[in-house]
Amino acid sequence: MKPRIVLTRVMTDAVMERASREFDAILPPPGGLDLEATLKALEEHQAEGLFFTSGTKLDAATIARIPSHVKIAGTCSVGFDHIDVEAAKARGLIVTNTPDVLNNATADMAFLLILGACRRAAEYDQIMRKGWGRFYGMHEMLGLDVSGKTLGIVGMGRIGRAVARRARGFDMKVIYHNRTRLDADLEEGAEYYADLREMLSRCDILTLHAPGGAGTAGLMNRETFALLPKGAVFVNTARGSLVDEEALLEALDSGQLFAAGLDVFAKEPTVDPRLAAHSKVFLAPHMGSATVETRTAMGFRVLDNIAAVAAGKPPIDPIWN
Ligand code: DGY
Repeated sequence: MKPRIVLTRVMTDAVMERASREFDAILPPPGGLDLEATLKALEEHQAEGLFFTSGTKLDAATIARIPSHVKIAGTCSVGFDHIDVEAAKARGLIVTNTPDVLNNATADMAFLLILGACRRAAEYDQIMRKGWGRFYGMHEMLGLDVSGKTLGIVGMGRIGRAVARRARGFDMKVIYHNRTRLDADLEEGAEYYADLREMLSRCDILTLHAPGGAGTAGLMNRETFALLPKGAVFVNTARGSLVDEEALLEALDSGQLFAAGLDVFAKEPTVDPRLAAHSKVFLAPHMGSATVETRTAMGFRVLDNIAAVAAGKPPIDPIWN
């Protein structure tokens, strides 16, 4: 018998095709399944597995409503701040995520934002769409070099390290803050700062790669933005919750920040209109992992986890051990 699963969101063709072939799958309508429809489908289908994304919040109240035949919930994301881990543990629900397969795509997005913010990509794009029309003076509309600059990375996990590798290719100096110092072979020459505040004053460009959740909420605020050198560039592809957006706007308006590149926002899928209208902000709608190859690999990873658990084997990517 094929494992019975429910998918909450439409995935790439390859994932949809595999889900249909190898599983007894309830596939979502084009707009996806909302929470009530998901719980109903799990019940009606007597599903063993839930395939979901960060758009579905599994808080304690929702976990309590997941039917007992559901053994595994696989989130198609590396982040799991949308899941109440303690409630899932207490319920005996196995929860898995999709580490590794999105490192390169997310690091590429961070670099797109770094380059876009430093080189005023949003403003150039606007100028061209309005018809261009005049040559700029050699002193006008200038951006910043990334080469030779110091890149500060907050969170030197797999994605942070993939960003560091790219930075080295751009002749940047890499410094980082992490809960623990990495072994030298993983550091690859990056300089460690145990104290975030001490690192901030040395960053020409700062990029966040720390998980969301209570421990990191509001990490970048009035006080920490003020510790950056004047004219620094700030990039976030991690989680909107890491940033106090009022403080970010103030730092942009005062010139404390030269520019920002943002893929994640405090109230997704809503973006503060002041950020959206800001000429110094280069924006993307939470698309760090959004490539055909990576989204397919992520979806396959969720299916692999569900298949393992359905076969009585341990999950490949449990979010706790
Ligand atoms: C992730 O994988 O955590 C991405 O940010 C999508 O939520």
